[in-house]
Formats: sequence, structure tokens, C-alpha cells
Amino acid sequence: MSMPISVTVNGRQHREEVEPRLLLVDFLREVLGLTGTHVGCDTSGCGACTIVVNGKAVKSCTLLAVQADGAEVTTIEGLANAAGNGGLHPLQQSFHEEHGLQCGFCTPGMIMAAWQLLERTPAPSDAEIRHALEGNFCRCTGYENIVRSVRRAAGAKA
Ligand code: FES
Ligand code: FES
Repeated sequence: MSMPISVTVNGRQHREEVEPRLLLVDFLREVLGLTGTHVGCDTSGCGACTIVVNGKAVKSCTLLAVQADGAEVTTIEGLANAAGNGGLHPLQQSFHEEHGLQCGFCTPGMIMAAWQLLERTPAPSDAEIRHALEGNFCRCTGYENIVRSVRRAAGAKA
């Protein structure tokens, strides 16, 4: 049995019929083809699937697609548009400049979580950055450059 849902993703409305058990992350990746949102664990542990739903950073493997019916969703693909300048978002730029990524698997989730931190707290301390990202795992960087990237983006925030 499928259910109709209507979700606005990165400013574009999508009406689809989905299985009630379909995870939101799988809806984004497999139905809409937005593969920038990654799946690391599927059990809400790693944060690779972090997106923004109605202004809050959420792990999209913890929600069903039907729970996003009527919601406004932003994924990493929509973040550059959110900057409003047609280029990279300041967070994307700062992760590039401060080497805040290596393999890049965790990066979309890190950036979406950091974006919501900067929306709430435009000039966070390092402790606040670390606290905001504690649900996002990185197996490569040792986190120092990620913290530095977020700090730099805070200074350059659009
Ligand atoms: Fe969602 Fe790991 S895939 S938290
Ligand atoms: Fe590889 Fe973070 S850059 S997991």
C-alpha cells in the first residue's frame, strides 16, 4: 500500500506515492535522486544522513518519508542556494579552505549540522561547535579541521 505525500525539497515541491515504511533518507536518495545525503549506519548513530527539516537539523534515517508530508526540507544540494549568491555556501568554502574533509563521506551531514548551529548561534565557541557536531562521526580528520572550518565560516557567514 502506498501513501501520497507532498514534500518541498530545496525549494521544489514533490508529490509522490511512497510505501509507509520508506525512510526519509531513502526517499531523498532513491526517489528524488539526491545522493548528497549519505547513509553510514541507518541506526541514527553516525550523522551522515543529517538534513534540515522545518529549520531543524535531523538525521533522515530516523524519520519515515510519510512523516515529512507537508515539510520543508533542505539537503546539501540546496545549501548553496541558501547562501543566495549562486556560489558555494560559506561553510562549503571554509571546509574546502581549512581541509575539513578527507574522504568526504561525513561532510554533507557535518555541514548541514553546522549550518543549523550557525543559524542559532552565529558566533559559536569551539565548545559549542563540538557540542553541535557530537552526533556526527568522522573517521578521517580527527575533527580539528572541521572545528576550524566551522569557526572560519562563522566569521564569513553570509
Ligand atoms: Fe543516519 Fe547514520 S545513517 S545517523
Ligand atoms: Fe572521511 Fe569524515 S572525511 S569520514
